[in-house]
This record gives sequence, C-alpha cells and structure tokens, in this order.
Amino acid sequence: MPDALRVAVLGAGTVGGAVVRAFLARPDGLVVDGGPRLLLAGVAVRDPSRAIAAGFPHELLTDAPAHLVASPDTDVVVELMGGDEPARTLLTAALEAGKPVVTANKHLIAHHGPALEAAARATSTPLRFEAAVGGGIPVLRPLAGDLAANCVERIRAIVNGTTNYILTAMARDGRGYGDVLADAQAAGYAEADPAADVEGVDAANKLAILARLGFGAWLDPDRIVRRPPSVRGEAPAGITAVTDREVTGAAALGLTLKLVADVSRSAETDAERATDTPGDLAASVVPTALPLEDPLARTSGVRNRIEVRAAPVGSVAFSGPGAGGPATASAVLGDLHAIARGGGSSWAGRTGWPDAAAPLRPPWESADRDWFFLVPSPAVPDTGALGGAAVATASMGDDIAVRVTGASLERVRAALRDGLPPERDVTLYPAEHRRPAA
Ligand code: HSE
Repeated sequence: MPDALRVAVLGAGTVGGAVVRAFLARPDGLVVDGGPRLLLAGVAVRDPSRAIAAGFPHELLTDAPAHLVASPDTDVVVELMGGDEPARTLLTAALEAGKPVVTANKHLIAHHGPALEAAARATSTPLRFEAAVGGGIPVLRPLAGDLAANCVERIRAIVNGTTNYILTAMARDGRGYGDVLADAQAAGYAEADPAADVEGVDAANKLAILARLGFGAWLDPDRIVRRPPSVRGEAPAGITAVTDREVTGAAALGLTLKLVADVSRSAETDAERATDTPGDLAASVVPTALPLEDPLARTSGVRNRIEVRAAPVGSVAFSGPGAGGPATASAVLGDLHAIARGGGSSWAGRTGWPDAAAPLRPPWESADRDWFFLVPSPAVPDTGALGGAAVATASMGDDIAVRVTGASLERVRAALRDGLPPERDVTLYPAEHRRPAA
C-alpha cells in the first residue's frame, strides 16, 4: 500500500458536500490506523461557480468527472452524483482501471448491481456501498461480514426516511401528507424527484441491495411489489394513497401505518434452511399496519431500522439516522477507511450468484395473515364471512376501521366485495401479528 490514497469525489450535493467538508476539516487527510491516509484529490461538480460560492476551494473543482476518474492522481473514486448515467459509465471505468469505488447510489447498485459486481470481481477491485442503505447506519458490513455464516430467513425494515417522516407527522399531528412532504424536502431528506420516495421506489432499491447481502441474489427492483392489494385489485404505489382517516383509524385499533420493506425466503426444512442458495424469495415495500409496541412502529421521523432474522443468531436489529448529509457521509467515510485497511467489497463473505435473478413469489400467497382497512359501516364483514378470523373494529363516523386476524387475501376480498358501493375500492393493508407479551 502507498503512504496515501488520493480520493476523487463526484458530486457535491447534500451527501457529497458533507464528505468534502469532512476532508476540508482535516487538512492532513483522514488518518487510518494500519493503512495509508486518505487525501482529497478533486471534486467534480456540475457548476463550479456555485461550489466556489458554497465555500469549496476552486483548485479542487472540475466539471469534467471522466477526466478526474481517469487521472493518474486519482486512486479511489467516491460517487455521490446519484442517478443512472453518467454514474454507471464512470464507475465501470474506475473498476476496470482497478480504482476502488465507494458510492451511495442505491438506484445504480440496485439496477446495475450484477454488472458492477462482475466488473469489480474481474479486476479484484473493491466496490463499497454502505451509504446506499440506511444512511449512517452500519448495516451492510455486519450483514455480509459478521453475519455471513448465518442463513438469513427474513429482512424487515424501514429504509426510507422521507416516508417515515411523513407517516410519523401524519400520525402525531394529524396533518395531510402533501403538507409534510414539503418539510421533508426542505430538510434535505427527499430524493431529487420525491415520487421515488413516496411511491416506494427508493425503498425497493434498498431492499434489493439488502437481499443481495442477506440472501446472495440480486433481485430485480422493478419486480418488488409496491402496491398494496385492494378489494378490487391494487391500490396506488407506496404511501401515495394513505389517508389521514386511515392513519387515525389504525391508531384507534392500536396500530400504526409504516412503509415496510420485507424480503423473506421460503425454507420449510432444516436442510433447505442450511442450503447456500437463495431459494424462492417474497419481497414487498407497502404500507403495513404494525402494533404500536412493535419496534418498527416506534421508529419515528427520519430514523431507519433494519431487522434481520437468521440462523443461528436469531434476530438482530440496526437503527439510526437513515438520511441527511452528515449521517450518510459517515457511511461513505467508513467505506474509505475500510478500503485503506485493505477491506474488500460490500458483499464481503456473502457468496453471490450475480448472474442469476432470484425467483420472486407474490408476498400475499401465504394462506392466512392479518389485515387492516377502513370501510363504510354497512360493508364491515363478520367473523362468519371471514371463515372464523377474529375481527376488531373502531368507529370512524360513516366508516369503520377494521383489523382482521388470520384470513387469506381472497377471503377478505370476497367478504367485502358485495357490501361496497360499485365506485368504491378499499386498500387492504397487510398487518403484523401482535407479539405475545414478554
Ligand atoms: N430519500 C432517501 C430517504 C434518502 O428519504 O431515505 C436516503 O437514502
């Protein structure tokens, strides 16, 4: 290893700016015990005059990222531009040239993970993306490293700070989501296009990355279910159709709605559980009704929480700040430290099948589960119509909030269909089982 590694940063927005400021605050570079120090070689930005006005030294700035990546004075590339191109071309070029890459770009890793993993493996060059999931929470490294000998059964998570901020404020203050979204954008949590947050696209990208590091297989993020079922078909994606009344009705039944990313593996036997292949996976990112005592339900604001159930460890959870410049910069800087100490790629010890798209099952195919919905009073199903499933209700004026425990989707649909006015549809939110008291 040389005495120093020279780091090029591509992008100086919310996260890139925080990374550059961390370097500028340490003029001698980032000191790494047992490795070379890390020095800032240059920063590629779209508009250097704006970056100079923001206080970045002009001698570090360029508007030519490809030249910065190719420069003999660049040893490591940090990509914080976001989006697809030119990020994909720039990172592929860096990996092909044997220059380690750190990125926070969840869209890029989720959509082009197999090709980027192949490029990194071909030249034995580290590709690290801790900052792509959970902002400042260290989760990918423990999942793929410390837990690599475990067989993962389920990952359940809140991985989008913007939607969690919105749903938390709706439940706490009774505000509508458009109003709260503006706050989240002003705080620098939302994506450039907030549709990616509120429609669950950002969380699905993060779930695809978690699945690679937990189960070894790249999922196609576009096939992850983002629309909750409804009586007549499917509801709109993500949290876009969650209403204040549904949030209030859930609270009346001791529930809270959260955008939950969930991936699990079907493994019936110990032999299947011990196998080293991904198997069939079910994956979804939909608003889910959680009992208030569930730790995911108590994850508020921009915080994220990722829970991993695996054998032999049992259940472990990671929580912390899931968005924002300084928190996410922490993960980027941690990856740079890991590279300076000779750490490999983010998949660490987790074997992968980069070329094989894992089969995906529909998440609601399992027989009986719990549901939450809000229906006009005359449409409330009784236990008989639901095949004996328990029904809890709370009155909401003309509507009734309903929680069903233990019924299949088809049975709930059949029980509701006839009682609903023809022009009305009702979103059927999956609900988590109440956990038995400890
Ligand atoms: N828009 C993302 C969020 C940023 O709200 O979580 C962090 O990935």
